[in-house]
Amino acid sequence: MKHLIDPMDLSKQETDEIISLAQDIIAHRERYQGSMSHRKLATLFYEPSTRTRLSFTSAMMELGGNVLGFSDARNSSVSKGETVQDTVRVVGCFADVIAMRHSIEGAQLYATEVSRVPIINAGDGSHSHPTQTLTDLLTIQRELGRIDGITIGFCGDLRFGRTVHSLIKALSRYKDIKVILIAPQELKLPDYIKRDVCERTGIPYREVETMEEVMPELDVLYMTRVQKERFLDEDEFDRVKDSFVLDAARMSLAKKKMAVLHPLPRVNEILTEVDADPRAAYFRQVENGKFVREALIVKLHEWKDDPEHGMPAQEEPVYDDTLRCVNPKCICNNEHAPHKFRRGEDDVLRCWYCDSKVR
Ligand code: CP
Repeated sequence: MKHLIDPMDLSKQETDEIISLAQDIIAHRERYQGSMSHRKLATLFYEPSTRTRLSFTSAMMELGGNVLGFSDARNSSVSKGETVQDTVRVVGCFADVIAMRHSIEGAQLYATEVSRVPIINAGDGSHSHPTQTLTDLLTIQRELGRIDGITIGFCGDLRFGRTVHSLIKALSRYKDIKVILIAPQELKLPDYIKRDVCERTGIPYREVETMEEVMPELDVLYMTRVQKERFLDEDEFDRVKDSFVLDAARMSLAKKKMAVLHPLPRVNEILTEVDADPRAAYFRQVENGKFVREALIVKLHEWKDDPEHGMPAQEEPVYDDTLRCVNPKCICNNEHAPHKFRRGEDDVLRCWYCDSKVR
């Protein structure tokens, strides 16, 4: 069975098929109405959301299916202590596919171990957000007519920004991608993405501290919000919260054909004066999210029993009772998930669920 927990759970071909199907849905919406009739999507949101939850809901409704679930886990039996795995076992009796958001990293991967229906990760902590990645890829394709060959600048909170981590992974499979990382010291991209994704796959990247010095080179500027909810120290948040602001003056430095993306919500990192600029693609990006989620739901249903479209082969986990995941927000430090690890090519052990470096 196919789940979508990490962008790399999809092969490049599967990713491209979803992007193509989304484009066909945009062009021929009527052909897909009713294609999911009598099917049910459960949206289990343990963490707030506007776009992801509502776009999943709208996508399933456009396909003629139904939606159930919760947008606040306090109104579910989670408030009585029900675990993620038990919740998923139960909801799998009522729904054909589950989209789940959780602040605990690895929660969805842990849930796949017992689920009898496909699980879609709708965001786990600061770890991964693969359906935002599909949205971003579709948006780049529609705005620029290509994904290969782009120079993309990621700006803002690259440390906690799960959409950034996921998109860099997905872009590593396209040709001639160049990445520029624009962030203050405190919000730099985690080493494991730089080393395990950029360096291993050979994506050239460089780190800079001002937008101005790179604006003229960019085909895509990917802005992000500084994620207050992920900081353990409020003073640290206050120091970096206004590090980068995109305004009309900075836009004047950019190429005529450039696309500004932002997963949204924004706070003050893009001034509203930029919204009318034709290169501001972030509200078109929101709508693309609905179409790409329609395509994903259709494809996961099509692939459900097809052995050609299972999960990618995994190496054997390493169990070591002397080791513990160091991430307090990992599922194995919050529920009874086992402390298990994967050994990277560099011989480093990382948590199976959240990718934190352990040894
Ligand atoms: N982009 C995104 O994930 O938005 P929401 O948090 O509103 O779902």
